Amino acid sequence: MLKGEKILITGAAGRVAFPIARRLAQENLVYGMARFTKPADREKLVAHGITPLQKDLGKGSFDDLPGDITYIFHAGAAISKEASLDWQWAFEVNAHATGRLMSRYKSGKLKGFVYCSTGSQYDYQGHRPLKESDRPGLHNHNYSLSKIAGEAVVNFASSQWNIPTTIIRIFSTYGPTGGAPYDRMKAIVEGREVALYPDKPNNYNPIFEDDYVDLGIRAMEVARTPALTVNWSGSETVSAEDYCEYIGKLVGKKPKIVYNNTAYWPIWPDTTLMHQVLGRTKVHWQDGFKRMVQAAYPEMKLNDAP
Ligand SMILES: NC(=O)c1ccc[n+]([C@@H]2O[C@H](COP(=O)([O-])OP(=O)(O)OC[C@H]3O[C@@H](n4cnc5c(N)ncnc54)[C@H](OP(=O)(O)O)[C@@H]3O)[C@@H](O)[C@H]2O)c1
Repeated sequence: MLKGEKILITGAAGRVAFPIARRLAQENLVYGMARFTKPADREKLVAHGITPLQKDLGKGSFDDLPGDITYIFHAGAAISKEASLDWQWAFEVNAHATGRLMSRYKSGKLKGFVYCSTGSQYDYQGHRPLKESDRPGLHNHNYSLSKIAGEAVVNFASSQWNIPTTIIRIFSTYGPTGGAPYDRMKAIVEGREVALYPDKPNNYNPIFEDDYVDLGIRAMEVARTPALTVNWSGSETVSAEDYCEYIGKLVGKKPKIVYNNTAYWPIWPDTTLMHQVLGRTKVHWQDGFKRMVQAAYPEMKLNDAP
């Protein structure tokens, strides 16, 4: 656990970064950057001892950021709608701004920089887990492209300015505040269809919030030059078919799974390198899924499920 550091977390109110920022703020000075498009996010940070920094990654300079930062966890990004509507904006925020941010800290004080990339930057390889050396692909067109470009910028900047760096390729996070498993849970409870890719089973390694806080901090600690690129996921593989069935048993509903070529292909990580450099996750998938359902539906009496 990092202590006494000055840490900048971008996208600090978001699903991935907020629980990490909250944990780090217990023992470090933490700055949380976002545009604060939802004003309540600013108060959320302040309530947990995180100093808010209002800034749009895609606009203006970073010269006014504190100069004595020792670690950066860079999660702020153009995602989903913003990326799909405007590829140039996606490149500006996810790639160019990352380079400008690293350039701001090129003087040599940074001990670690983490770039949040994505498992959505891999091409589909059928029924085998995706290794860090596998070729890139367009899982989610503009977003994937901009993250592939972002990784290239980060690799350049890390070597050029000797910034110890970890690029984490994030796969399927979930927890009380959301994630693809959360969306599928909602669909099951509300009786809506769950669309999956036809090449079944749809394998994933979902990672629960408690574990991604640990692995996020670990990624900061192991940063190095040249940059380390590593898959970042749960240690266990479970298919979406199996976890939907498990959720269905808990909530007493039969999932309506449909197979559809327009559904995203499953992203299934090889965890060999992750286990070597970051360690294993601890929350068993069934425990994590039960906690997610309980948090979303506190009034619901859940059935026992194996
Ligand atoms: N969640 C996953 O399963 C997953 C999977 C793969 C990769 N990732 C990566 O992990 C990172 C975090 O994702 P997330 O799921 O936590 O996203 P999220 O919940 O949507 O949070 C994104 C954060 O970034 C901020 N942000 C967006 N555009 C910004 C801009 N132009 N300038 C400054 N801040 C901006 C947002 O706040 P404002 O809108 O207020 O600015 C928000 O705090 C991203 O880099 C994403 O690509 C996540």
